[in-house]
Amino acid sequence: MESLGILNVTDNKKNVYCIDGNDALEIKLVRNPEDLQSPRFSFKPDMCHQVFGESEQIFGYKGLKIKLYYAAGNLTTYIGIEYEEKISTPGIEPDNVMEMLRNAIQSRFETNITVFERLLQEDDTFHPHGNLTNAFSIGDGLESKTFEVYVNDTSDANFLEYHTKVQTFVILYIDAANYVDPDEGNWKFFLLYEKYLSSNMVTKYGVVGYASVYEYYAYPSHIRPRVSQVVILPPFRCIGLCSKLLNSVYSYYQTNRKVVDITVESPSPDFQRVRDFVDCKNCINLDAFSPAKLKHGFSEEQIRQCKERFKINKKQARRIYEILRLKYTNIHNDEEYNAYLAEIKDRLCRPNKKRIMKRRFWSYFASDPDEFYVPALPDNGTLQDCDEDIEDEVLELKEQYDLVISRLNRNH
Ligand SMILES: CC(C)(COP(=O)(O)OP(=O)(O)OC[C@H]1O[C@@H](n2cnc3c(N)ncnc32)[C@H](O)[C@@H]1OP(=O)(O)O)[C@@H](O)C(=O)NCCC(=O)NCCS
Repeated sequence: MESLGILNVTDNKKNVYCIDGNDALEIKLVRNPEDLQSPRFSFKPDMCHQVFGESEQIFGYKGLKIKLYYAAGNLTTYIGIEYEEKISTPGIEPDNVMEMLRNAIQSRFETNITVFERLLQEDDTFHPHGNLTNAFSIGDGLESKTFEVYVNDTSDANFLEYHTKVQTFVILYIDAANYVDPDEGNWKFFLLYEKYLSSNMVTKYGVVGYASVYEYYAYPSHIRPRVSQVVILPPFRCIGLCSKLLNSVYSYYQTNRKVVDITVESPSPDFQRVRDFVDCKNCINLDAFSPAKLKHGFSEEQIRQCKERFKINKKQARRIYEILRLKYTNIHNDEEYNAYLAEIKDRLCRPNKKRIMKRRFWSYFASDPDEFYVPALPDNGTLQDCDEDIEDEVLELKEQYDLVISRLNRNH
């Protein structure tokens, strides 16, 4: 229940003393001491409900700024809280920002900037935990940047401590993300670093991205790795790093004979687009996906080649087929284009058709077909409603596929 004190505060006053946590929070990856005074590598969270509560609002301060600074490699952490004014109405407590951060961050941090600045020196000797699994460069000449991917499991206590710090990024960028419990099972963690030369000419590592993979057991002695959480930190987005990181995860598992296939847990639309691009780019040169074979429809051969070469499952193989088939379809030729759309529609309709047929079948035998386990149509819709929904779905899919195709055409 709202306290009497709060009832005395006018709405206006409430607004003045309320700030969106995403605006208040400034995250910074400090590579060189001079970065402390510059906006370089500063960025905002995408969300902060796991830190400041569902509304993401912080109450009780005017001009609040929260600095969440990290040494870019070893992730030594500093938290600084600054504000112009704190609410001082009797009976009204401002939010305890430090306590909220302490609960969410779950690892040690400094609150004295001079101590943090001194500790930054230790980042010169930081080397990533785990085993190097991939290295690559992006850009040309002086613009070229080098990246390395390290893989870790849950057996190294030092890494687990480090991982606790990395997980703060996960809750600030992935909706409904949970902290991974390392005792829970078979996790692998892929950390992506930029390897760079610092202002004092030391080769250093700076965190830029992260992927966690859960290795599910598959009978009799196999595994099915499932990509769970992937984050590329905002200053490093849109230069192709997620696609490189995902390919690094694939390469890590592709030669492992125990791996049945690699799946992804509830991919966000942005991530699914990267995944589609990576998978299509990998498969485009497979014999089964040649333009001539694509014209003959989705085939067992495509499923087999996807699985054998890239550990891609049937559902994703179908998506790759649909994207590549669209790439080679002349959308200005009505016959060709309509045949393509009809095929997608047919695929989307199939589960509904099955449901309808099952319901019709059971209605001969039972006065109430719901007595049997036959799922109803969405929202008790008719076949016609269903058709309209599916028309929309086909066009929505085509829009998604177009974005992947234009990335394939740009080739980055
Ligand atoms: C989703 C996410 C991981 C993508 O990371 P990313 O490194 O930016 O991905 P990529 O750079 O490979 O591709 C992103 C875009 O950059 C574009 N791009 C890649 N290289 C480029 C270049 N050199 N120049 C211009 N654009 C480029 C791609 O074409 C792609 O464009 P699109 O969005 O129009 O398809 C990142 O946005 C993120 O961390 N989001 C928050 C967390 C999240 O949603 N995670 C996934 C769910 S678990």
